[in-house]
This record gives sequence, C-alpha cells and structure tokens, in this order.
Amino acid sequence: MYYPEEIIEEILSRNDLVDVVSEYVRLKKQGSSHFGLCPFHNEDTPSFSVSPDKQMYYCFGCQSGGNVFTFIMQMENYSFVDAVKYLAARANIDLPQAEYSEEVKKELKEREIVLNIHKETAKYFYSNLQSQRGKLADEYLRSRKVKDKIRKLFGIGYANADYADLYKYLLYKGYSEEMMLISGLIIPRKKGKGYIDRFRDRIMFPIFDVHNNIIGFGGRVLDDSLPKYMNSPETILFDKSKNLYGLNYARTAKEENILIVEGYMDVISLYQAGFKNVVASLGTAFNYQHAALLKRYTNEVVLVYDSDAAGIKAALRAMPILSSVGLKIRVLQIPGEKDPDDFIKEKGAEAFRDLIMKALSSVMFQVNLIKKKYDIEDVEQKIQFTMEVANILSKLNNSIEMEVYLTQIAEETGISKESIFEEIKKARERNKRINRHNKFSSLPNESKEEQKSSISNRIDEKDGLYKAQLNILRVISKNESIFQIIKEHLSFSEFIDPTFSKAAMLIYQAYDKDNSIEAAKIINHFESVEEQNQVSFIFNEEKNDDKEYDVEKAINDQIKLIKKANIDLKSRTTTDIYEIQALIEQKKQLEKLYINIISG
Ligand code: CTP
Ligand code: MN
Repeated sequence: MYYPEEIIEEILSRNDLVDVVSEYVRLKKQGSSHFGLCPFHNEDTPSFSVSPDKQMYYCFGCQSGGNVFTFIMQMENYSFVDAVKYLAARANIDLPQAEYSEEVKKELKEREIVLNIHKETAKYFYSNLQSQRGKLADEYLRSRKVKDKIRKLFGIGYANADYADLYKYLLYKGYSEEMMLISGLIIPRKKGKGYIDRFRDRIMFPIFDVHNNIIGFGGRVLDDSLPKYMNSPETILFDKSKNLYGLNYARTAKEENILIVEGYMDVISLYQAGFKNVVASLGTAFNYQHAALLKRYTNEVVLVYDSDAAGIKAALRAMPILSSVGLKIRVLQIPGEKDPDDFIKEKGAEAFRDLIMKALSSVMFQVNLIKKKYDIEDVEQKIQFTMEVANILSKLNNSIEMEVYLTQIAEETGISKESIFEEIKKARERNKRINRHNKFSSLPNESKEEQKSSISNRIDEKDGLYKAQLNILRVISKNESIFQIIKEHLSFSEFIDPTFSKAAMLIYQAYDKDNSIEAAKIINHFESVEEQNQVSFIFNEEKNDDKEYDVEKAINDQIKLIKKANIDLKSRTTTDIYEIQALIEQKKQLEKLYINIISG
C-alpha cells in the first residue's frame, strides 16, 4: 500500500512525538528537550531525549533514534504500514482505501475465507480434544505434561480419525469445496470422487503468523508411527520459509534474545517453563527469510540444538545465514542425548536458564569443535589447530571482538596471542588470493579446502556488503554535507541490493528536491513489509560499541566494497577479454580511491 505524501505529512503533524512517547515513557523537560528512561534498553538514569522542535528522539545510551513512525515501529514491533494505521487512527485521520483490481479483490476475498476456515478448524480441533473422541490424544498430552493453560494458548487440538470428519464439519458451516481445497486442509480422494481430510487422528498444532492469524497446522501422530509430523502444504496463507512457530509470542517477550529450537514440542515445553522467547522453523531448514524475520524482533539469537552430529551440523549451517542479517549468535548445547523438552522435564527451568547464560558465542563454539579434533599437546597437531582457528577468526572485522577471542583462546590453549595473530594475517592473505582468483576464473582444480574457504568467504563478503550498503545509507541520510561528498563518488544505482538501491534513489532525489529527507516518506515507497523493514533499518540507529572507530576510514572501506562488488558483478557476466581488462584496471584504480569526508 502506497500512501500519498500529504497523508504521511498530516499523520506526522498531528501526532506530536512528545505526546506519543509520553504514553510509554515518563518525560521531564530539561532545556529545549524532554528526557526519560529509554524504553529500548535497561537503564537507571535517563538518557533518552525527545526534541519537540525536531520531532526526533535519540538515546545517548543505546543510540536508538528516529521519528514518531520509527518510535512506534520499535516500541510495538510494528511494520511501517501498521505504524501508519496506528498513528492515523490515533489522530482520527481517515486513510484512503486502496483501489484494488478485480483480480486482487478476488484474492483478498479468498484469503479472508481461507483464514476463517483455519480459525473454525482450529476451534473444532480444540473442542475435539476435550471430547470423548479425543480421549487418547488428551492422555498423550497429559503424559507429556502439557498444561491446560498452554493447550489453550497454543490452541492445541485433535483431528478425529474419520476420513472426512473435518470436511463434513466445514460443509455444515457453509464453506464451498473450492475454498476447502484452497485451504489445503481437505484433499480430493485418490480414487473416485469426493474429498477427505488431510489430517486424521493427529494432535494438531495451529501455526500462527505474527499477527496471531492461524495460517496452517502441524499434526503429530499419537504413537511411533511414521511420518511423525505432517504439516500444511504451501497455500495462499502459508509459506513455511517465511514463518516461524512461536514467533507470535516470542516477538513481544521483551527478552534480550530469541531461542531457536528444532520442534513444536520444544517451543511448547520451553514456553511452559517460562521461556516465551522461543521459536522453531516449521519442518524446514533455516533460511535467509527466517533470519530477516527474526532480525525485526531481536539482535541476538541462541541456537538450541541437540548435541548430536545432526544438531551440530544444523547449527553450523544456520550460523552464516543468521549472521548475514547482522544477528549476534550464541549456541546452546544440551548435554547428553536430549532435546530441550526432555532436559527441562528432567532438570528444570533454572538449569536451562543456566545453559542459556553459558551458551557460547558462535566463534567459540566453532573453536571448541576444532579443539576436539586435535591433541594440542602434540606439536604438529597444535599447528593444525592454530591454523584452523585462525581461519575462523580471520573473518572477524571488529578488533575488540578479535582481542577478546584471542585472549580467551590463548588462555585456554597456551598458544600465544601473537602466534595466533600471525596465522590470522596469513589466513587473510590466503582468502584474499583465493577470492581474487575466483572472481575472474573459476578453475576446477582448486583443492577441497580452498573451495570450502572461498565459499565461506563469499558468505562473509555478502554479509559485509549488506552492512556496507546499510551503513552508507545511514550516514548519508543523517548528514547532508556527507551526502554531498559521497554522491560525487557513488551513484544510487551502484547499491547492489535492489531494495537499498531504490532507497538510495529516493534519498538522493529527496536531497535534490527538498534538501532534507523524511524517513517515513522514503519507507512509504515500498510495498512489502520485508522491504519496509529493511529500509527502516536505515533510519534506526544501532549501537556501535567500537569507541576507537575511524568513521572516515570505515566509510571509505564501505564505498570501496560496494564499488568492488559492482566490478565483480560485471566481470562475472562478461566474456569480453577487453572488458575484463578494463574491469581489472578499474579495480586497481579503486585501490587508490580515498575520499576526504571530515575535512571536505
Ligand atoms: N518434522 C516434520 N516432519 C517430520 C518430522 C519432523 O515436519 N516427519 C519437524 C516438526 O516441525 C518437528 C521438528 O521437525 O517439530 C523436529 O522434529 P522432532 O525433534 O522429531 O519433533 P519434536 O517437536 O521434538 O516432537 P516430539 O518431542 O513429540 O518427538
Ligand atoms: Mn522432542
């Protein structure tokens, strides 16, 4: 939905930031600003300031800042559109109704009906569980110690064993067969005419989206038969790669992190033990969209996997995906051959809280895995160990973090920080070489090790590239004079990520037209919630712990990274030898680029 700029203006002018913030924070006037305790981090002395003149807020403690839209987005965990709706309603402003095409209208209508089918079905399943026919399911849940309160909160139910039980119920409720099929809950009989239920004789877990709509189901058998779980298929409501089980509760848990577990029962069991900040992927591997979804609600995730080989593999696989959106990762390993559900039942919530506290950073988790492979009393093996560890550490680009790990590893292994650091330097050189080598030709005879390290490097680079684009956009949207300098060197079309590129274009245009930019107006140009959230990060400050941070150098590095990515992209799509040479030349020139930003 694209709102006219006048509406955005009006919402801004009729929602005074001081008033809006005062609904959440007790503010006190001090000079020209108002101060209070920051709602976005824990503090005892007020460092959260609101400027009535600028209609902006800023926290000197956690560096979050923005305007009334970003405030509501951050405070309520709303998407931009939800924030617009909320603030419009607050100021009694009517939002224009969208003019939809016939096709879109039809789809919206279908969605609405299918949503209702899901809601009715969940209610039906829930009542089945309390009835005579649900007796075994009820006993099963009792044997697994799921309390009635939790059953209700998660809407756990039971699908009767009859072939067309739900079908008949939905028919009786007046739904058409066409809509039932679209819902995915009813399927055509394999032989002959007629329809049957997809889920039969299973314990049913409704799957909620973040707005608490039921969009699908997972169903578990009552015994050891297979398949243990069945899930809703992809429908107009349900896309398992874009939803996480439990996120509707986890997103408002207001904890420092979100725990990622493997299954439905783990979410339920942890929630019951008081850990509301827990999600599971829905019978599918963790992907980039899941990571981006989580990043909207938290900055840190704790991977909770079984300690077996499969669990470790899953954790290692999820790590680069999670870190590519800037999430901090820790890994919690459950001792013994147990899942979180077993562990909680046996050892209790406090013991689990202890495991969370002790969860290792993703770096130390990897270092420990490497440590298990070698006997560091043996000189040869010690060298191997150091090289592998150096390879992991060489991917870090924060010097403080690096120092912390170096110290810790040196203490644990007795290998000096200096020797590890020497290896890190070598690893960086090696990675650079492999990268260069990969960019212009991909030779099939690389060793396995080299291939692997260049792959992980590419993921890392993607991460860096994403951050670089985000940071440059942050810098230019905050400071017009820096924008004027940067625009001479970097055009908006050079932003690689399509969403960022469009945001850059809008920012460049806004400066040209109005000499200033308004976050809400920029975000307003994007249709999907995903894009809007990505763009809103530009206007939401993030904490930067690195005090020694050289801003000018960082900006230069980031611009170079973006320009280099452009050259690489071109070189991948051309086979013209002259153009390749030109690109190599451009790359050389790029090394010499240095933009004076502070001194102009
Ligand atoms: N899963 C699935 N299909 C299967 C098996 C598993 O979709 N045939 C998914 C489910 O989302 C499940 C998760 O993988 O929750 C983890 O599987 P598992 O650990 O076997 O299930 P639990 O949730 O731990 O269930 P339980 O404790 O009842 O065995
Ligand atoms: Mn389990």
